[in-house]
Amino acid sequence: MTMKRCIWTQAEAQRKSTYLSLSFGRRRYFPSALSSLLFFLQMEVDREEEQEQVVTPWEVAAKGDGKIDYDKLITKFGCQKLDHSLIDRVQRLTGQLPHVFLRRGVFFAHREFDQILNAYEKGDKFYLYTGRGPSSESLHLGHLIPFLFTKYLQDAFKVPLVIQLTDDEKSIWKNITVEESKRLARENAKDIIACGFDVNRTFIFSDFGYMGGAFYENVVRVAKCVSFNQVRGIFGFDNESNIGKIGFPPVQAVPSFPSSFPHLFPGESKLRCLIPCAIDQDPYFRMTRDVAPRIGYDKPALIESLFFPALQGEAGKMSAGDPNSAIYLTDSDKMIRNKVNKHAFSGGQDSQENHRKYGANLEVDIPVKYLSFFLEDDADLEHIKQEYGAGRMLTGQVKSRLIEVLTALVTRHREARSKVTDEVVDAFMAVRPLPWMFD
Ligand code: TRP
Repeated sequence: MTMKRCIWTQAEAQRKSTYLSLSFGRRRYFPSALSSLLFFLQMEVDREEEQEQVVTPWEVAAKGDGKIDYDKLITKFGCQKLDHSLIDRVQRLTGQLPHVFLRRGVFFAHREFDQILNAYEKGDKFYLYTGRGPSSESLHLGHLIPFLFTKYLQDAFKVPLVIQLTDDEKSIWKNITVEESKRLARENAKDIIACGFDVNRTFIFSDFGYMGGAFYENVVRVAKCVSFNQVRGIFGFDNESNIGKIGFPPVQAVPSFPSSFPHLFPGESKLRCLIPCAIDQDPYFRMTRDVAPRIGYDKPALIESLFFPALQGEAGKMSAGDPNSAIYLTDSDKMIRNKVNKHAFSGGQDSQENHRKYGANLEVDIPVKYLSFFLEDDADLEHIKQEYGAGRMLTGQVKSRLIEVLTALVTRHREARSKVTDEVVDAFMAVRPLPWMFD
């Protein structure tokens, strides 16, 4: 029971107690006035829950105003805020300016990242683990964020990295055949490799290709510790969910343990793992961290990002369903220009006159948001914010700056990806030791 409670979030526990009171309310022996009162209270609880934001690995829904309340998410999930003292420590330990995503709060939450830094300070290394579910042919800008950040961490700390392609997950969840999912995994691997990972420190694997041996032994160790009730509470599965879904979470859990990779980390069962990911993946790792000590392993540490907003505004993540909600890495220069000009939600005023008078609302302005992810020069960004916020700069000018920045990024990516041949993919995915991974 204690163990169950600690991996439920408050909302999950509340949902449970709601079910309890419902079945109570239906009991015959309650006088009718009392049962209607109970029913009324129940409705109130339901209404409150309905208005709550929902963040799971499959669904991101904000409350009425369309904005995710990230502080609330931190409290609900039980992670920590990534504060300035930690970012300063990263700067000291790596001897370089922290990545834009750290300076600007894109990676904003963590679990035990401080412990990873403590250990690193004493000379202990760690390894990185991140992943992708290959559900579409081409990635959009939002997909790139964890990988660009992981690449920075790999270079700054000089540590090995494992990247999991969950082709099994996507075949289980989406209407994608096993064969198609495997093909997408390889295509996505090319985009990931194009982010610049070092082949001497990086192992990319797909679940269909790699799962077996020591990895699968760990899957079973984890699976034995988690009941159906628990995954139902954590992930929202129900009696109709196919059993592939119910059995999947341990597969995403075990790359957190070095013994899942005997070719990389033989005899290094104490090597700590750090997972950079978007915060919607937190439920998997809440489960993993709960189970780890029970099977004699260390808990993985996490560093978690915000969602990248859709072009239309900040209501959750970008949707793969609507091509105009996102900039894809396969978009031509012309498409990028059109999407930004036509679809990027502007915080500018409705007339030039009002704009000069009141200035832009930077809080809701998508071009400024996107620039704060991808324009590296701090002074340049500050200047734009000041001028635009004061109404001296117009939306069109900010948009054309954004088009410049994004076109450069996508062009660079396109060129890098064209150099990633099948042989390069095979090299990254080969099950092999990495003798220079800590050098
Ligand atoms: N479930 C993730 C997705 O759908 C893929 C994934 C697997 C992942 N392992 C991970 C993401 C570790 C971040 C960190 O995209």
